[in-house]
Amino acid sequence: MSKVFISCALPYANGPCHLGHLRSTYIPADIYARYKRMHGEDVLFVCATDEHGTPIAVRAEDEGISPKEIVDKYHLMIKHDLESCAISFDYFSRTTDPIHYKIAQNFFLKLYEKGYIYESEIKQPYCVECKRFLPDRYVEGKCPQCGGEDARGDHCESCGRHLDPIQLLEPTCLICKSTPEVRESKHYFFKLSHFQVDLKNWIENNQDLPPNVRNYALQWLMEGLKDWILTRDMEWGIPVPLKEGEGKIIYVWGEAFLGYISSAAQWSREKNLPWQEYWNDKTIHFIGKDIIYHHAIFWPALLMAYGCKLPSNIIAGEYLSLEGQKMSTSKNWVIWTSKFLQYFDADSLRYYLTVNAPLNRDTDFSWDDFQRRINDELADVLGNFLHRTFSFTDRFFDGLVPNPSSFDEYDQKLIGRIKNAPDLVSEYIEQFKFREGLVEIIKLAKFGNKYFNDKEPWNTVKTNKEKAATCIYLCNQIAKTLAVLLQPYIPVKAREIMKILDLEGEKISWQNANEFVPPNHEIGKAKPLFSKIDDDVIKKQKEMLYKNLEGESKTKNIISIDDFAKVDLRIGKVIGAESVKGSDNLLKLIVDIQDKKIQIVAGIARKYSPQEIITQKVVVLVNLKPAKLFGIKSEGMILATEETMSILTSKDASIGERIK
Ligand code: 2FM
Ligand code: ZN
Repeated sequence: MSKVFISCALPYANGPCHLGHLRSTYIPADIYARYKRMHGEDVLFVCATDEHGTPIAVRAEDEGISPKEIVDKYHLMIKHDLESCAISFDYFSRTTDPIHYKIAQNFFLKLYEKGYIYESEIKQPYCVECKRFLPDRYVEGKCPQCGGEDARGDHCESCGRHLDPIQLLEPTCLICKSTPEVRESKHYFFKLSHFQVDLKNWIENNQDLPPNVRNYALQWLMEGLKDWILTRDMEWGIPVPLKEGEGKIIYVWGEAFLGYISSAAQWSREKNLPWQEYWNDKTIHFIGKDIIYHHAIFWPALLMAYGCKLPSNIIAGEYLSLEGQKMSTSKNWVIWTSKFLQYFDADSLRYYLTVNAPLNRDTDFSWDDFQRRINDELADVLGNFLHRTFSFTDRFFDGLVPNPSSFDEYDQKLIGRIKNAPDLVSEYIEQFKFREGLVEIIKLAKFGNKYFNDKEPWNTVKTNKEKAATCIYLCNQIAKTLAVLLQPYIPVKAREIMKILDLEGEKISWQNANEFVPPNHEIGKAKPLFSKIDDDVIKKQKEMLYKNLEGESKTKNIISIDDFAKVDLRIGKVIGAESVKGSDNLLKLIVDIQDKKIQIVAGIARKYSPQEIITQKVVVLVNLKPAKLFGIKSEGMILATEETMSILTSKDASIGERIK
């Protein structure tokens, strides 16, 4: 039996799982793993949480807790999210597991002993205020390659390149915002440049690699590979296993890949089976496109250095946007898996994220499109076909798959479609064209519906029962084929269909998906499998999502202290107030700010009369560019709340006092 090692990129344990992760990596990998198992291959499907790295350390610092507390929490959350989506890992581990430490340190040592890791004094950003070196995300700036604004010490979000922290333009310390200086520090480097030629050969000769992976990788190879700094001056991470390296840790990208292996090693230990056989037969990494560089360049080079077989393929899912906008966790423009599953089932998500677009194309999650596809395709096509087939079998044939009579041309055509379906879908899945495979399955259900309509068994059951029997016999066969072929895609629903067909206990494999259920096989009662989603439900989801965005834009429009310093706010006393003719909304005020008196036209007349506002001590923005309202000059602004128009006042402050 051929073996296959399947891995998913390790999610960082600093946030739960969202729909983008599922679409690019976990759902496609799971479809593939489930399909392979059904196809009779021996699968080892692993993943783990990636628990080191500066984002986690920085966050722990921000929240005043230990990094371990953060990763413990998110490990459980991510595990739960992935289980809820029926991602069928054989092992889900963590990179803080002692086995992982051991494997990662041994790997490092072996490369060091082989001369692929060397020491060198290098220049590093050092923050004088914080009294420490600033690895990776502790420093931010502009990307020297593409000019992207949001580059961090190790990686540029805009162009996806790996960076050296001192290359950053206009660097600042993430913690205290000061400009770091450059200091020398001893570090360990991986001789990535040594593998330039071998990597190029490997990529060029590996015809299986999908174009997005090949093209990115070749582009980077053309730029020429530089050695990678493999250690960091920080505490949170796996210690460098060398006496001279004390106090340093292995860079997160120098050990995270080994999570694939350490997770498999734990599985091996539990099962008493060697994971190496799977790795050596065939290894497929499923990742998101943002980490192609790491998997197509850095990881294969590490494996070459170690002397280990390289992956057979790397499948990189492209991005998912949300309602037409780039997904962003910091802006809360995101749908979290657990939230989604409060309202909808996991199979509807698996279905939508797969059918929506091919994996090698960016695509969008839109609530309307989600509703349309679930209603039109799952409910109206698939659900309807199954329901009418099962109900008819129950009602007119006592729940028994009827005996067919002779097959006409139309029946033969249908039989041909059924017989052909597993190979057709299989071909697509083998090529990682998961969407195309699923579309074929839905087409079969559509064909089934048309066949049912054309054959009119509701008439023939009265006029020519044999004909009706043949029709319903064949419809049950389609139902069985659908149930089997849908298993990798929507496993929970597929199992429910199998249950109705009473085929649950059978040894179902991909190869026998098109074998016919014998006549007189008893099936169960029809039940609604796919319900439609109401407009109201979608409306509510959209409201919740868009509200997030409003809330975020109010609070997350960060300004610097320097920006705030430009705002001249003073305490002023209202010494004159009158209504503005022709306006229900405006009052003309004279405000004493001690060194002068200014005239302000304020939109507070609906809340305050001139008598109520006079003599009040209010907060005034005094350096606002003058403007004219209703032809009256206004030289500042009184601060008031937006909705209730309540003015901000102070009893105790002195007139003219500056607010800082
Ligand atoms: O980019 C990421 O989310 C990383 N945590 C992926 C690591 S995959 C591999 F190295 F294990
Ligand atoms: Zn600092």
